[in-house]
Amino acid sequence: MNTPTLTLTANSAGPPSAEDLVDVLLSKMTLEEKIGQLQQVDASADPLPDHLIEGVRAGRIGSVINLANTDACNRLQRVAVEESRLSIPLLMGRDVIHGFRTIFPIPLGQAAAWNPELVRKAARIAALEARSQGIHWTFAPMIDISRDPRWGRIAESFGEDSHLTGLLGSAMVEGFQTADLSGHGAILACAKHFVGYGASESGRDYSATNIPANELRNVYLEPFRKVVEAGAATLMTSFSDLDGIPATANGALLNGVLRGDWGFDGLVVSDWNAINELIVHGLCEDSRSAATEAALAGVDMEMAGDAYASNLAKLVEERVLSVSQIDAMVVRVLRLKQKLGLFERPYTDPAGFDPLVSDKALDVAYQAALESLVLLKNDGAVLPLRVAGLGSIAVIGPLADAPHEQMGTWVFDGQKTDTATPLQALRRQFGGKIDVNYAPGLDTSRSRSHALFGEAETAVRNSDVALVFLGEESILSGEAHSRADITLPGAQSELLARIRALGKPVVTVVLAGRPLVLSENLPHTDSLLYAWHPGTMGGPAIAAVLFGDEAPRGKLPVTFPKSVGQIPIYYNHKNTGRPPNPSEMILIDDIEVGARQTSLGMSAFYLDDGSEPLFPFGFGLSYGKFELGGLELSQQIIGLCDRLKVRATVRNTGACSGFETVQLYIRDIAGSLTRPVKELKAFKRVSLQPGQSGLVEFDLGAADLSFYRRDGSFGPEPGKFCLWVATRSDGGLKAEFSLSAQ
Ligand code: NOJ
Repeated sequence: MNTPTLTLTANSAGPPSAEDLVDVLLSKMTLEEKIGQLQQVDASADPLPDHLIEGVRAGRIGSVINLANTDACNRLQRVAVEESRLSIPLLMGRDVIHGFRTIFPIPLGQAAAWNPELVRKAARIAALEARSQGIHWTFAPMIDISRDPRWGRIAESFGEDSHLTGLLGSAMVEGFQTADLSGHGAILACAKHFVGYGASESGRDYSATNIPANELRNVYLEPFRKVVEAGAATLMTSFSDLDGIPATANGALLNGVLRGDWGFDGLVVSDWNAINELIVHGLCEDSRSAATEAALAGVDMEMAGDAYASNLAKLVEERVLSVSQIDAMVVRVLRLKQKLGLFERPYTDPAGFDPLVSDKALDVAYQAALESLVLLKNDGAVLPLRVAGLGSIAVIGPLADAPHEQMGTWVFDGQKTDTATPLQALRRQFGGKIDVNYAPGLDTSRSRSHALFGEAETAVRNSDVALVFLGEESILSGEAHSRADITLPGAQSELLARIRALGKPVVTVVLAGRPLVLSENLPHTDSLLYAWHPGTMGGPAIAAVLFGDEAPRGKLPVTFPKSVGQIPIYYNHKNTGRPPNPSEMILIDDIEVGARQTSLGMSAFYLDDGSEPLFPFGFGLSYGKFELGGLELSQQIIGLCDRLKVRATVRNTGACSGFETVQLYIRDIAGSLTRPVKELKAFKRVSLQPGQSGLVEFDLGAADLSFYRRDGSFGPEPGKFCLWVATRSDGGLKAEFSLSAQ
């Protein structure tokens, strides 16, 4: 392939450094070419329109989004590097959210593994596959804290906790970018959406957000601080309005916090047409004003809109913006192209990569799916199933054999023909040994028809156990796919109730893009395995857990509410002046008719749903049974420079081997600002045989106790703390310690 060379007049001997290359280019660029570098254009149309190709040739486009195969990418790249005046390569962007062709569990599922290393490995595979097809830039990780399962994009998040989200987001960044962006198969990560999108009012996508300053700094911004530390090269602004200022125009956050306080020197891209949407928000009257607001706020590149292209030159001419402001924005784009090695290697040759969906990729997809599975109920130890005692299984439900649906939201390149469903896996693995009686009962998750119920009931009657695969199709979560009612859609609850009535053991597996409200369904199943949308290898992973080849080990990264009315519900809430106390609650049916007052219950709870969720953050069973003991702290009082060592033992008292993820939570008892009732600070997973014990050790320092205080500074506050070593966020062994002022 013919790679053109750019003639550079660097003044030093030898090849020009990154800065030289960028400086030389900048000195040669016209204002129009500079503004072109700030433009990302949608290239999804096939064939590409002439005006797009002409725009690339004229240097009016710096990046494209949605082009995704090697030929198309190389063809357009050739126009940029061989036909444009300055030969500046294009940056090719695409949403590679949880895999490219090999699809890993949705990010919320990956979060349930509580395993940063696995997230890193999956992102690495995704980056290699994407780069092999000509992609240089993905728009992930999404690290929006999500406390509302109605929000369709909770699927793309790592859940409700800042610590876990920061760790997993950083791991994903490392997997995409590797240590060196010019290395083999590295792509740019883009942490999004800066900031607060997950707090969309009522869980309705694109709604406004209202986040108090303390919550913003200590909860929503925290994961962004972590991924910036981890080296995220780019950030995307949020669509949302935060307290009257849409994020795309929020200079205090972009220039102030992100670039100023944290020293971020990477690129900020708008979300899709979000600059023009400043007009729709009601912040700007026209696109000139929208471009001004965004540019002054610190947005370098515009995604799929024309506000910059139409206005920036004029704004410079009118001295609203200076050339040096534009230059700083352009330099950030060029520097990334340089770091990726695009000036030397603008084209992609897939021959230098493993094939798509390689065995190695499938192994990681299997492991990621396996570790994402969360066992939420297992009455009578129905699971694991033993092939030896079984003659037949009934496989029921609309998600048992739905290869497209189990991939989840944000899948552009994954193909259902690569996907292994639970039915396929069960047949392949156990087909010769037991009868597999398949009857879906419903065509789709949304179907309300009972027409296939009879067939499903017959299959169950003829089987020893019913495996029921319920949930949501992929299209029911993701962007612009929020739901007000998050119970099982269609007639799935009725199907489950009918199967339950047949008296056979029932195992329910839920495949969904969010926590569903399952209160009505829980009594109708002996076991409940939550599988999220598990991706390409979901089927084999589920089959392995159902039949005990593997023990489940996932833990919830998000609270499961009993009802929609409880939302938002999350573990790290504030205590309030009247915290809920179960012995002080009165429920709706216990209130005397005609009563004017009740003597019980002047505290924070619902008359009809109490205060507890259906399943708390951090919860998840395994096949062993685990008991914690022997909690020891190295000191009762620690100084600002000390490390507190915390140890506890965990013992498997069950009959099967299994996994436990031991979690460390703290509570700052009194602060200059009130602090959450619990905060996750660390966790460790152990694997134990029956009867075996393990020692778990943590160590905490002042940085772990720090937060943005009432005066805006960051640090710990001396005083009393509680600490829990636990297997879920709502229990555990408790101890106290103090932080002294020295
Ligand atoms: C809009 C979404 O909000 C964002 O997350 C995504 O990366 C862009 N569209 C590009 O598809």
